[in-house]
Amino acid sequence: IEFLTSKKKLKGKRFLVTAGPTIEKIDPVRFIGNHSSGKMGYAIAESLASEGAQVDLISGPVQITTNNPNITIHPVESANEMHQEATTRFKMADGAIMAAAVSDYSVATPSEKKLKREQTGNITLELIPNKDIAAALGKQKKQNQILVGFALETDNELENATKKLQKKNLDCIILNSLKEPGAGFNVNTNKIIIINNKGEQKTFSLKEKKEVAADIVQYLVENY
Ligand code: CTP
Ligand code: CA
Repeated sequence: IEFLTSKKKLKGKRFLVTAGPTIEKIDPVRFIGNHSSGKMGYAIAESLASEGAQVDLISGPVQITTNNPNITIHPVESANEMHQEATTRFKMADGAIMAAAVSDYSVATPSEKKLKREQTGNITLELIPNKDIAAALGKQKKQNQILVGFALETDNELENATKKLQKKNLDCIILNSLKEPGAGFNVNTNKIIIINNKGEQKTFSLKEKKEVAADIVQYLVENY
């Protein structure tokens, strides 16, 4: 029995995971970023790999890494670079989990030289919307591929998450609320609800991100 239950369930499968923030250049030394640590995405990559999957981890700049032989890290900086890597690599994947906190905007015309404060005075940055990577994969998705997104919401959580799931053509979406103490950015714990495309919900308790990642992978193994 022990032998049977320890069988790796994702052997032979290939997954794409996006993780961390993306950053958008203002000039050669400055950027717009966000608080994502990459912990959730890296933990998911580790969980998938421990079930035997090969993982392409498309990662924005983070302070963490992994030495897992089943995980290949593809470092990117901007949302555009992440879009390029993700849309190319998804073709070879059985599924994708979109855990990155992608910048929604980039600077229209980043300066090639460092901005000098004596020469600028007030600055107005023009920001242009970035491509929605999850939605792009949702369009590209084939019958046998599975696409999982995240939603970070502060209000109308379930309604907003469900809208995102539909709009991006996801199979399920993992909702984490910024309202929950112990959930969100730069903490080691998270509390999630998984919503699938039939509207079914599964609620989990507050746990370590590593355990949350194991729950997510377990959910995928059981349901797809
Ligand atoms: N996402 C993405 N590409 C983007 C923006 C978001 O792939 N340009 C993905 C995220 O990785 C996440 C999901 O889409 O899996 C939802 O991200 P979120 O920021 O919550 O949603 P948005 O669609 O950007 O909407 P908003 O930020 O306005 O709430
Ligand atoms: Ca967003």
